[in-house]
Amino acid sequence: MFWTPVEVAQRAVQLMECSEGQRVLDVGSGCGKFCTVGALSSDAEFFGIEQRPDLVEVARAIAREHKLSQTQYSVGDMSDLDWSEFDRIYLYNPFHEQTSGPWVQIDDTISYSRDTQSTYVQSVVEKLNSLAAGTRVATYFGFGGTFPTGYTKLAYEHFEQGPLEVWRKS
Ligand SMILES: C[S@@+](CC[C@H](N)C(=O)[O-])C[C@H]1O[C@@H](n2cnc3c(N)ncnc32)[C@H](O)[C@@H]1O
Repeated sequence: MFWTPVEVAQRAVQLMECSEGQRVLDVGSGCGKFCTVGALSSDAEFFGIEQRPDLVEVARAIAREHKLSQTQYSVGDMSDLDWSEFDRIYLYNPFHEQTSGPWVQIDDTISYSRDTQSTYVQSVVEKLNSLAAGTRVATYFGFGGTFPTGYTKLAYEHFEQGPLEVWRKS
């Protein structure tokens, strides 16, 4: 439940039209499942930012083992990253664990609060506002907020587990 299902990742990459030369950011990349599937299904470059260092270690180990030169990962807070160098953004409801109780919390290495969730969602909205025209953004189960003015929804598909949406900045 914490990582994007393979078929959803493949479809998100297809709907975002990820192609050679493009840079795709997975916001909260976990163990790298979205980036790994993306790299195996397209020629784009995949970059994951993840707050949990142990998950980044797993993602890097997978990339090494499978010689995936198209994937790169950093440990950090997505709020501190400059998103403007990316052509495509992917979010699988990264802050849900801040609000919904222990059954959706990955582990006990971070603290959880509604205030943190609000701060992160606000940060995402600010970053979405600053992205270049033509940038595509895919969400699986949303990101906890509303897309700002200037975004058009290109696609909505419902998978067994939940909704995938793709938006474009005009
Ligand atoms: C639902 S998981 C999705 C993982 C991955 N994107 C995927 O689709 O398989 C959300 C991830 O976002 C990470 N995350 C949440 N808030 C974050 C933040 N502020 N900065 C970086 N990573 C964050 C969590 O640690 C978790 O690994």
